[in-house]
Amino acid sequence: MELAILTSGGDAPGMNAVIRSFVRQGLLGQHRVWGILRGLEGLVRGTRQELKTESVADIIMTGGTMLHTCRFGDFHSPTTQQMAVKQMRDWGLDGLAVIGGNGSLRAAHAISAAGFPVVGIPASIDNDVYGTDDCIGFDTAVNNITASIDKIRDTASSHERIFVVEVMGNRSGALAIGAGLAAGAEAIVIPERPVNPEVIAERLQTTHARGKKHSFIVVAEGADRAERLANELNGMTGFEVKWVVLGHTQRGGPPSAKDRLLGSVFGSAAVSSLEQGAHGVMIGVQNGKTCWVPLASVAESEKPAQFDWLDLAEQLAL
Ligand code: F6P
Repeated sequence: MELAILTSGGDAPGMNAVIRSFVRQGLLGQHRVWGILRGLEGLVRGTRQELKTESVADIIMTGGTMLHTCRFGDFHSPTTQQMAVKQMRDWGLDGLAVIGGNGSLRAAHAISAAGFPVVGIPASIDNDVYGTDDCIGFDTAVNNITASIDKIRDTASSHERIFVVEVMGNRSGALAIGAGLAAGAEAIVIPERPVNPEVIAERLQTTHARGKKHSFIVVAEGADRAERLANELNGMTGFEVKWVVLGHTQRGGPPSAKDRLLGSVFGSAAVSSLEQGAHGVMIGVQNGKTCWVPLASVAESEKPAQFDWLDLAEQLAL
C-alpha cells in the first residue's frame, strides 16, 4: 500500500512518536510511507516527502512535529476537501492517517465521507476529544504546568501571595482540571462549571484565616482571563494576588514517557487499521485498552468534563 500521514492543528508533544511508529510499522508491512508537510494545507498544495526508517530516527523524544502543522480554516469548504481527495488519488495513495485535535478529526471525517480511507489519531493538549480517555500531548502538558506551578510555589510561599495561573484548553477545562489537581490548586475555574469569584474569595479568606500562607487558582483560558480574575480577587479580599499566563510553554519540550508510549501504540494501530480496511475510525484508548471510535461520532459529540476530579481537587484544598 501507499500510506501517508500528516499532523494538523496545534502541535502536541508525542506527535513525533506517532509518526515514528506509523512509518516503521508501515515499512515493516512492506508499504511505502509518505509524510504530508504542513498538515491539511500541505495535502491541498501537494507537499509531501517519502519517509524511510532513518527519516524518523531520534524523534521519539522531541516535542512539536517533524512534519510541521498549521491551522487551515479553508478545509471547511467541500471544494477544498475534494481537492485534497483528488490530490491523494492522483498520488495513488491507499490510506491516510490524520493526527490532531477536534478540528482535524472533523476534517478526517469529511475526507472519509468523501470516500477516501482515513484513520484519525487524537492529539491535543486540551484532551477534549470524544471517545478517548487520553489524547497525545495531554500528559506532557499536565506535567509542564505542574512543574511551572511548583516553581511559582517557591516564590508564592516566600512572599505569602496568591497566584492565578491561566492555562490553555480552548473551550475545555480538562487541562485545568488535570493540572490543578496534580499541582494541588486551591481552586480550578473551568468553562463547563462557571463559579462566582465571590465563592473563591470566600474560600481564600477562610483558608488563610486558618493559617494558609499562599494559594493557587488555576483558570482555564476558556473560562476567564487570569489578569481579570486576579484583580477581582484582590479587590474582594485585599490579599496580594499575582497572575501568570503560561501560554505556549505548556505545549513545548520533550514528550512524557506516557505520551511516547501512547504515540507508539496509536501509530502502529493506525497502520493495522488501514491494512484491515477499517477506516473512517479514530484510534482511541478507553480504560487502558486501544479501541476504534467512528469518526462520525467523534465529529458530532462532546467529551464530558471530569467533574469527579474537579470535586476531588476542591475537597483536598482544605
Ligand atoms: O488546541 C491546542 C491549543 O493549545 C489550545 O489549548 C489553545 O487555545 C490553542 O491551541 C492555541 O492555538 P495557537 O497555538 O494557534 O495560538
